Amino acid sequence: MNNYSNQEAEQLMLIIYKEILAIERITVLAHPDTKVPNSDYKRIIEIVERLKKNEPIQYILGETEFYDLKFKLTPSVLIPRPETEELVQWISADISKIGSAILDIGTGSGCIAIALAKNIANSSLYAVDVSEEAIEVAKKNAVINEVDIVFLCHDILQSDYSNLPKDLSVIVSNPPYVTNKQKGEMQKNVLDYEPALALFVPDNDPLLFYRKIAEIGIKLLANNGALYFEINEIYGNELKILLEEIGYSKVMLKADINGKNRMIKALR
Ligand SMILES: C[S@@+](CC[C@H](N)C(=O)[O-])C[C@H]1O[C@@H](n2cnc3c(N)ncnc32)[C@H](O)[C@@H]1O
Repeated sequence: MNNYSNQEAEQLMLIIYKEILAIERITVLAHPDTKVPNSDYKRIIEIVERLKKNEPIQYILGETEFYDLKFKLTPSVLIPRPETEELVQWISADISKIGSAILDIGTGSGCIAIALAKNIANSSLYAVDVSEEAIEVAKKNAVINEVDIVFLCHDILQSDYSNLPKDLSVIVSNPPYVTNKQKGEMQKNVLDYEPALALFVPDNDPLLFYRKIAEIGIKLLANNGALYFEINEIYGNELKILLEEIGYSKVMLKADINGKNRMIKALR
């Protein structure tokens, strides 16, 4: 698999051993001569062939982990990213109020809404996505993780938002934010396999979703309600100004574990 470094290839093999043979990493490392049964060998070869074509392991196996929870995945939903776990962590640390009402916009696999429902006691969770397929996946993930969430298929760019919940404590979103111009900088495994609907915005309006969600947020958030976004670090300052212009206060950028401004929070 020469499109992967040795370290990546070893990590992938350990994941495959765990998923297909139910052998833990420590056992494989302690017994590197363990024989693979013929029936499993065929399945492993199939997986390796797909990996060679850059297909992400999460889509091949149909699942992933996010915030220590299991999520089913299909090619209709984005693979949840570690930086999004940091956004969930930020919100969970901030929200202590019992009975918080939280709306996740562009829920995809449901990872943000489900992780928040698991971690914030007595919260009411709502989640929307324009993709019916994504909503189906997110609903299954809510069942697997035993949380109650109200899911709605809704296009956030349309003008009517009367079906969305009001008096919210939190709106959170990790919306599409990659411009077509930036496609060239993206890896093949993302470009060829992840849903374009989850990723791209027009070149002339990279903040399209942020502006729309922030404008709707002014109407749907309660006084002092908070808006949280995952962001591309290159738009941090521009977005801060935009949110202040729309009427938000205490706008705060936050760096991720790599020191990059990948999150923003603002109060209504
Ligand atoms: C970057 S993905 C985020 C998915 C998930 N929240 C996560 O963090 O992994 C953006 C999501 O927004 C959804 N989306 C795209 N356009 C939308 C629209 N007009 N209205 C609502 N959701 C939309 C996509 O289907 C996708 O699931």
